[in-house]
Amino acid sequence: MTAHLPLPIFSPSLDPALERVDIELPQGRAYPIWIGQDLWSNPDTWSSLPKARLALVVSNTVVAPLYAKKLIETLGRQYERVELLALPDGEHFKTWETMNLIFDRLLECGADRKSVLFALGGGVVGDITGFAAACFMRGVPFVQVPTTLLAQVDSSVGGKTAVNHPLGKNMVGAFYQPEQVVCDLGALQTLPARELSAGLAEIIKYGPIADMAFLAWLEDHLELLRQKDPLALAVAVKRSCEIKAWVVSQDEKEGGIRAILNFGHTFGHAIESGLGFGEWLHGEAVGCGMVMACELSCALGLVDQAFVDRMRRLIARAGLPTRAPDLGVQTYLAHMSHDKKAVGGEIQFVVIDAPGRASVRRAAKEVVTQVIEHCVAL
Ligand code: NAD
Ligand code: GLY
Repeated sequence: MTAHLPLPIFSPSLDPALERVDIELPQGRAYPIWIGQDLWSNPDTWSSLPKARLALVVSNTVVAPLYAKKLIETLGRQYERVELLALPDGEHFKTWETMNLIFDRLLECGADRKSVLFALGGGVVGDITGFAAACFMRGVPFVQVPTTLLAQVDSSVGGKTAVNHPLGKNMVGAFYQPEQVVCDLGALQTLPARELSAGLAEIIKYGPIADMAFLAWLEDHLELLRQKDPLALAVAVKRSCEIKAWVVSQDEKEGGIRAILNFGHTFGHAIESGLGFGEWLHGEAVGCGMVMACELSCALGLVDQAFVDRMRRLIARAGLPTRAPDLGVQTYLAHMSHDKKAVGGEIQFVVIDAPGRASVRRAAKEVVTQVIEHCVAL
């Protein structure tokens, strides 16, 4: 772990056209996250990338028709050959089999170790493409080009890559960092409202774990965010990336503090797997999971009920579910025991120690059972 760094102070005044957040990693590794408007069609955005003959843009059947042409045209100025691969869309296709389509195309095109992959899409495309880049020829460069709010504020940053296994979400993957992340805020204008809400869940997460000033700003600007106001989106994406970069810089491979980014995810993953992948969106499950994790923090005597109610109100205003689905307590417990934070079958949770500060703790099964029963009945 690198030395503890101070979190930059939250400032909502910025340039919505172009902002930069740097993510610093051990051994002098670092990469920029660019946030702004019309970035993909600007050749300057890509000029510092490694030189190569071939670039492969990996997208999906929904995003490629919207944005691939613009990106490929610009990349064509820099790479001799630019190929497009549109994967099938959706969490159901976040599999080893889908990832193989990337290897097939790379080999068909005669890719070499310098070939660069571009992940143009949401978290699903980003996670699969990043993992493919980590594996192909033992590692080729890749660039995150996130097109959902969730991907711009969370999944494209920090180098977690994975595919799902039938027995568990994100169970097969690698830590593998991109060359850079390019968040073009204009892409969010075509995002369906439900997907925007899913992204808001991961944004709200950063408040209770790290920055209550940001949480208060979100309370004041939630309607503007839901209306896709460009300035509000720029502030929310930049602050989220700053907080994520701050955490990942201290703990790249989740030996410690990085686990706080999983706030709400232990309950959330149980909801996703328990209902069947795709029934609730990942962000929806995280939204409800955060309510459950706040209730757990309250049951453990760490925060008061007023804080839990404040979080529940904001999550509901973001268009996210706050009542837990009735899967049965045993189903919750069984799915949570597969969580990557579980040690020797004992479940661990990210809890709020005090508003703006989080940690990982064990909780007695009786307390967790009470919380689940309470959140199902709400
Ligand atoms: P997603 O990638 O499935 O995208 C959501 C939907 O929006 C898809 O149908 C997609 O085709 C469509 N879409 C994408 N961009 C669009 C645009 N600009 N306009 C219109 N439609 C668009 O879902 P997601 O919420 O972006 O990502 C969820 C995934 O991210 C999950 O698999 C989750 O496990 C993963 N994740 C990873 C990390 C990480 O650190 N690596 C963090 C959080 C989540
Ligand atoms: N989304 C959690 C993490 O990146 O660690």
